Amino acid sequence: MDYSMLSMPVGEAMFTQRSIRRFRPDPIPMDILHLLIEAAVRAPNGGNRQIGRFLVLTDRAKIREFGTLYHDAWYAKRRDEGHAWTRAEDIPATDKNHRSAAGLADHMKDVPCVVFALATNNGPANSVIPAAQNLMLAARTLGIGSVPTTLHATVMDRFRAMFGIPGDVAFHFCIPLGYPADAKFGGSLRRPTNETTFFERWGFPAPW
Ligand SMILES: Cc1cc2nc3c(=O)[nH]c(=O)nc-3n(C[C@H](O)[C@H](O)[C@H](O)COP(=O)(O)O)c2cc1C
Repeated sequence: MDYSMLSMPVGEAMFTQRSIRRFRPDPIPMDILHLLIEAAVRAPNGGNRQIGRFLVLTDRAKIREFGTLYHDAWYAKRRDEGHAWTRAEDIPATDKNHRSAAGLADHMKDVPCVVFALATNNGPANSVIPAAQNLMLAARTLGIGSVPTTLHATVMDRFRAMFGIPGDVAFHFCIPLGYPADAKFGGSLRRPTNETTFFERWGFPAPW
């Protein structure tokens, strides 16, 4: 596989990756989608059993149909958190994280591409998540935005029926992909690593 297009320094890709939730309608060329999946499967996975499976969705009618399901799933998750919201306007403007994610719930029907990260034999997420991150980093190097998202138990039967996904295939991530509409890469907010990292023993500060 010719991966020379992925020439951005890995540090730049990692340090500028952030969630992109609004996309231009431009389709992602098929050779680029192929490259993203080839990058994904290079990731580590348990025992090299390669249980990860990817379903790439570009069909406009299917994405529109999935958009409704994703919207239902997103608000079902908010109900679980105790919120009675049913539309973006119900969410306080100060709650920027939920507002932004609700924007994606409205916009999912229009995204150019969605990749579902799945696993055979109801396999665990930890053999699929490294592949999803590889895919998103490779996307970022090509100027393609992404965000890992999940669904909700209440939509899983519909989800399986919509795409013919067998009952023994586990769902792990739904990753919309597209060229960013407005947001720029970079600027992710993280706690200082000396708050989240210990050294040698739990509770012992890192030496930086
Ligand atoms: C397990 C997981 C589930 C996530 N689910 C969603 C989701 O359902 N909807 C969404 O918009 N973002 C989702 N995200 C993205 C996070 O909200 C995002 O990574 C986080 O807020 C940090 O923002 P940043 O990636 O822009 O730095 C998810 C991320 C992870 C790792």
